[in-house]
Amino acid sequence: MFESQLDLLKGNTALALTVALCLGVGALSLARLVLGLCTLLFDTLLNPGISLRKFGAGQGHWAVLTGATGDIGRALALELAKRQFNVLLVARNDAKLQALADEIQAHSPEAEVKQFQLDFAHATSEEYQALKAVLDELTVSVLINNAGISHDIPTPFHLETDKRIHDIVRVNIDSMLNITHLVVPQMISRSSGLIINSGSFSATVPSPLLSVYSGSKSFVSTWSQALGAELQPKGIVVEHLNTYFVVSAMSKIRRPSFFIPTASSYARAVLSRVGVPGGTKMPFTSIPLLSHALLTWVVENFFSRQFWIMYNRSLMIDTRKRALRKREREAAPKSD
Ligand SMILES: NC(=O)c1ccc[n+]([C@@H]2O[C@H](COP(=O)([O-])OP(=O)(O)OC[C@H]3O[C@@H](n4cnc5c(N)ncnc54)[C@H](OP(=O)(O)O)[C@@H]3O)[C@@H](O)[C@H]2O)c1
Repeated sequence: MFESQLDLLKGNTALALTVALCLGVGALSLARLVLGLCTLLFDTLLNPGISLRKFGAGQGHWAVLTGATGDIGRALALELAKRQFNVLLVARNDAKLQALADEIQAHSPEAEVKQFQLDFAHATSEEYQALKAVLDELTVSVLINNAGISHDIPTPFHLETDKRIHDIVRVNIDSMLNITHLVVPQMISRSSGLIINSGSFSATVPSPLLSVYSGSKSFVSTWSQALGAELQPKGIVVEHLNTYFVVSAMSKIRRPSFFIPTASSYARAVLSRVGVPGGTKMPFTSIPLLSHALLTWVVENFFSRQFWIMYNRSLMIDTRKRALRKREREAAPKSD
């Protein structure tokens, strides 16, 4: 009798301990989630980040911006000039570069603007050396590696053209390595500088059917984190910008929404919150916009990576079908 009561007591104690342990683990997990959410809210709404004055704003220093003629690039260029940087615009199209330079001068007449035309898909080492000569004459304190291209439409890897694969690698990866290599020595010699590398959410959750773009942005993420740790002791800030959709030619999205900002509001957020993680656990990474940070928080905390990749795959399959139908419609002879 006494023994069976003892067994019952032991059983109850074990059950109570198990329940207490589960409750403890649950409470800790919930606290971690809530803390992550509070951190991202603080980061994206209140944290002012590192002041651009630390990188020479208003002191005659230069910001170098690649892909300056695209939607996000143009917005960043205007914002950099407004924040008292001189700007060196790098892109492949002379006419667009000139139009942007004129627009910047009209908005910020005190800013100096230079242009350098370079097609990253075919750039030679001589052209990079010519760019070096220009860079060496300037006090470059900010470099934004923003140029980027993607697949024309979601395309299975085995059907993608050699040219598109080659161009994505050259524009998204090679240009970033080459230009950073040209600029970093002068930043090291001054123990100051800011390097922002334009990444993508498609590295956080790989995108099937955009595999080369997605892989190239994974390179941007990994390389930026390694470089960030290398250069931090030398006084240089490296930031991998983890971007979800923005209204632009590349995204093919025309209307902004809560989750998809205009390029201008995105550029403002980027330059207002330098060095701010935005709740992400990824080192040397910034998600400056509340809506993008919330999406990352969900992906980092709920469901498995496999789930998100497969979710992405079905989205991309759908997008491809629609894009192919559109191509067919456009190719069909017009009937009067
Ligand atoms: N928009 C989004 O939803 C989104 C999301 C995540 C990440 N991003 C990243 O944000 C960055 C900017 O994208 P965006 O949306 O502003 O795209 P975009 O409007 O298409 O602009 C891309 C820029 O890259 C330039 N570029 C393209 N090919 C080039 C080449 N061969 N040589 C030199 N420059 C070249 C373009 O020049 P042209 O003007 O001559 O075409 C343009 O200035 C990219 O790195 C992209 O991956 C964008």
